[in-house]
Amino acid sequence: MVWTVDDVPPQTGRRIVITGANSGIGFEAAKVLVRKGARVVMACRSLDRGEAAAKAVRASIRNTGETNAGDVVVRRLDLADLESVTSFPKRLELDDYPIDVLVNNAGIMGIPRRETEDGFERQFGVNHLGHFALTGTLVDSLDDDARVVTVSSGMHERGEIDFEDLHGEESYGKWDAYAQSKLANLLFAYELDRRVEDAEVDITSVGVHPGYADTSLQSRGPEMTDSAVRKVMMRAANAVFAQPAADGALPTLYAATASDVQGGEYYGPGGFFTMRGPPERQRSSERSYDREAARRLWEVSAELTGVEFGLRENRR
Ligand SMILES: NC(=O)c1ccc[n+]([C@@H]2O[C@H](COP(=O)([O-])OP(=O)(O)OC[C@H]3O[C@@H](n4cnc5c(N)ncnc54)[C@H](OP(=O)(O)O)[C@@H]3O)[C@@H](O)[C@H]2O)c1
Repeated sequence: MVWTVDDVPPQTGRRIVITGANSGIGFEAAKVLVRKGARVVMACRSLDRGEAAAKAVRASIRNTGETNAGDVVVRRLDLADLESVTSFPKRLELDDYPIDVLVNNAGIMGIPRRETEDGFERQFGVNHLGHFALTGTLVDSLDDDARVVTVSSGMHERGEIDFEDLHGEESYGKWDAYAQSKLANLLFAYELDRRVEDAEVDITSVGVHPGYADTSLQSRGPEMTDSAVRKVMMRAANAVFAQPAADGALPTLYAATASDVQGGEYYGPGGFFTMRGPPERQRSSERSYDREAARRLWEVSAELTGVEFGLRENRR
């Protein structure tokens, strides 16, 4: 049976935090979840872009005439700055707690080598380390039976974790760095699932990928290098091959809301070369299930960010 947005169950009373929700997949997921009744916290690095997106979410709901919709608020979060990440709970309000779903969605792809405020290679820093630190900072605020959905990419399959040169200081390839960060997303999602199970904490952690979706992701790299040719090529490729961003959001929506989701699983589009189509459970690369690499990455990530996961049974 084909799973669509109509299958998203009612979300009334649920609190859902989505990183990078002002654009692309995060934005499309936010629209559906608010329409279904959730209170969605859009965690965005620009308050202006976030507020504009929140306005668009409210307008889209008014157009549907939905009467049981939830609400949407914007909170500042810059994943390229650990201070912004670890102070994020201070910007949440009582109504934002406890959190039922954390969607680690924000991302950057294929950019020239840049660093975060803390000196991490930026793709690894934003896509993985920022989300690692955010999840650790919020873990005690997650409700019983909460879900953590981490958005990876099919590109994880060509990823390797270069523990000797995590930040690309010796040698940097923009696609290798992206693939490394997306493999890190999955190693993290599965390791988190094992750790919450060991600690007997009732949280479900899963990985997803959106296939190939038409969003702003593909234009960021060309914008930074001012490459007009690459910008046009990316736009043309999106127009021909990509599915709409709303369809790219389906695996995230499935992982965040479907009743049969199990921890440690991976969801993505089940159609043409897993680039498009309705969501289904999939297997990620062999490397993504490497427990030793996952444990090592976890330890390095905790050391680099200074964030330890409490995983107390009596959380908030
Ligand atoms: N689109 C695809 O085909 C595709 C394929 C595979 C995987 N993915 C994954 O899907 C996820 C969502 O990407 P998308 O396609 O929706 O791209 P997008 O439209 O570019 O959205 C990315 C979001 O991440 C935010 N972001 C970037 N840097 C940030 C930072 N330092 N702190 C907080 N937020 C930050 C962006 O904010 P600004 O608007 O302020 O820059 C934007 O809201 C990413 O993890 C990506 O790797 C996408």
